[in-house]
Amino acid sequence: MIVLFGASGYVGSAIADRLRGDGLDFLAPSHRELDLTSREALTDWLVRIGKPEFAINAVGFTGRPNIDGTEVEKWHTLRANTVVPGVLAEVLGSEGIRWGHVSSGCIYNGCRPDGSGFTEEDEPEFAISDPRAGWYARTKWMAEKLISGLPGVLIWRLRIPFDACDNERNYLTKLMRYDRLLEVRNSISQLREFASVAVRSLRTGIPDGTYNATNPGSILTSEVAAALEKRGICRRRFDYFRGEQEFLSYPGRVFRASCVLDSSKLERCGVGMPDVHDSLDRTLRESNRA
Ligand SMILES: NC(=O)c1ccc[n+]([C@@H]2O[C@H](COP(=O)([O-])OP(=O)(O)OC[C@H]3O[C@@H](n4cnc5c(N)ncnc54)[C@H](OP(=O)(O)O)[C@@H]3O)[C@@H](O)[C@H]2O)c1
Repeated sequence: MIVLFGASGYVGSAIADRLRGDGLDFLAPSHRELDLTSREALTDWLVRIGKPEFAINAVGFTGRPNIDGTEVEKWHTLRANTVVPGVLAEVLGSEGIRWGHVSSGCIYNGCRPDGSGFTEEDEPEFAISDPRAGWYARTKWMAEKLISGLPGVLIWRLRIPFDACDNERNYLTKLMRYDRLLEVRNSISQLREFASVAVRSLRTGIPDGTYNATNPGSILTSEVAAALEKRGICRRRFDYFRGEQEFLSYPGRVFRASCVLDSSKLERCGVGMPDVHDSLDRTLRESNRA
């Protein structure tokens, strides 16, 4: 038996689908059934259910209606993104339960000086010392600091998830709904493929540690927009901000990191994801909006 925390969320439900698809039994306690900020509550619950084969943490708070909301709800953000993984590390670690944590690529900004993607060896300086880093990025970084290097822990860095369903959390849906777009280069993650990585990496027993779980390569906002137009999914003409300054001039808007990540470590472990352009094209073909 497997345990999935945060199964009701956008990312958690994709992982739940993958577990179901693989015919694996799992328990998914809700937020209300189990207080994951309490070491005692989690310990008692584990005594009741027995030792799971592994656990996955997809709990978190990314802000409502968007990341700007994490600047307002600082406690909620810290609790979900940092306290919960901290408690999981204490309890699951002491019970000897292997587990994986959904982190984020937003702790980086840009790319390496030579234009290549950041590897897992590169310190996420952006989230630590750049004053532009928002509260969300800082809470995700703090969680990584609490749990990275612990035995039995996998960290997957997800980045801008997209999929074929119309969902307000889906990057493709978001792009189609924004009035104007910001031209940036990013590594991004196909959600179903990410969920598959999460489950496969625990099942196949890849080494503990941190993994950039993005589709290999990177993509510009305008390339995604052009692909949406080409597939006939979106017929509107996209309008763009003149630059970051104009984008940030709107009140309450927090700086958005954009970054290129190197995902070759995951590939070397045999659980890599398909190339970003191929994956986007396949996702658009599957899209139920076509
Ligand atoms: N979506 C993205 O763009 C993105 C990108 C990179 C990384 N991530 C990471 O992926 C993870 C999941 O994000 P998501 O987009 O799936 O968010 P989501 O749709 O808001 O889901 C969050 C999940 O966490 C649960 N939760 C929230 N606060 C909790 C708490 N204090 N205790 C226990 N459960 C709590 C929610 O339960 P309820 O439904 O009961 O509230 C829900 O199941 C987060 O760690 C996030 O940082 C997301």
